[in-house]
Amino acid sequence: MDINKFVAPEIIFGMGAISQAGESVQRLGARKVFMVTDEGVIKSRWVEKALFYLDQAGLEYEVWSDLTTNPKDNEVEVGVKKYISSGCDAVMAIGGGSPIDAAKAIAVIATNGGIIQDYEGVNKINKPLPPMVILPTTAGSGSEVSQFAIIVDRKRKVKMTIISKSLMPDIAIVDPVMLQTKDARLTAATGMDALSHAVESYVSLAATPLSDIFALNSIRLIAGNLSASVACSTNMPAKESMSMASLQAGLAFSNAILGITHAMTHQVDGLLDSHHGETNAILLPYAMEYNLIANVDRFCHIAEALGEDIKDLSKWKAAEKAVKGIRRLVKNIGLAKRLSEIGIDESVVEKLAVNALKDACLITNPRDSNLQDIVSIYRKAL
Ligand SMILES: [Fe+2]
Repeated sequence: MDINKFVAPEIIFGMGAISQAGESVQRLGARKVFMVTDEGVIKSRWVEKALFYLDQAGLEYEVWSDLTTNPKDNEVEVGVKKYISSGCDAVMAIGGGSPIDAAKAIAVIATNGGIIQDYEGVNKINKPLPPMVILPTTAGSGSEVSQFAIIVDRKRKVKMTIISKSLMPDIAIVDPVMLQTKDARLTAATGMDALSHAVESYVSLAATPLSDIFALNSIRLIAGNLSASVACSTNMPAKESMSMASLQAGLAFSNAILGITHAMTHQVDGLLDSHHGETNAILLPYAMEYNLIANVDRFCHIAEALGEDIKDLSKWKAAEKAVKGIRRLVKNIGLAKRLSEIGIDESVVEKLAVNALKDACLITNPRDSNLQDIVSIYRKAL
């Protein structure tokens, strides 16, 4: 058996887990906390609540929310200056994937110097980062337990993928109550991001027995709970299951990496500033169709985890049911099914494909691909 490594942070999970915010960061030796968030999270009062617990622990803090969806390189630069000038010695992020990834990028530059482009790719961070505590308010990005950060390079209009063990937070505080303040569309899109993580990590070339357990269980939880979570913002059993699903998909992809869906999605998001989860929802079934021949057995397992009836079917028919199951779910939760619906047309396909070919997520895709393959998948999804 090959040597497997599995990296995970300390995880505090459950209703009301936000109450652990102060104690957690204090335990890591912090004195002044740099809290990265966004205006939406501030309005939903989760920041106020977290600050209450920092106050209780006798900690100082600086709140920084000057960032947009899909965090940009220039926003990270501003954040770094603020982190340094405010004399903070720890980072806390509260929000969806954007504030979490921005917080990670700020921590990298504050301690390693340079610009965020210097760290694009795999294992480029050499010096340790400040203590990081992350509180997700969406069930999707999995960034609270991942070795990934995704930042937009404005000049190239691409999303840079930064992968390093140093990006793994010290503590993830996952409180399902915080999901209640997200609307149906965001709940649907972020849930499909989590499902894309689970599916891609399960068929990844870097999948391990440990990542498999989390990936398959996450698919089961999402198939059973995403539509109910989209339908009702106060359905707490569904919210709790989606929080757990996102966390497990995060653990799976952080260790097994992703594949062609994310490699292609990052380029669309970089170009349009579109919602990452919605783009994944469009591309995932097409990418699965492309990957099917690489590992038909694993796609059968995915179909089963999605709740599809595969009894008495041939392996190929059963594997195809995985794609059908994803398409039905996307339709039920009301997300776009075609790239043209979100503003992509033929004129940008070649450029998107050239950039996707360079994305670090492509390395672990189970089927080899060249420029023409990727162009063809984009065209099918138009
Ligand atoms: Fe993602």
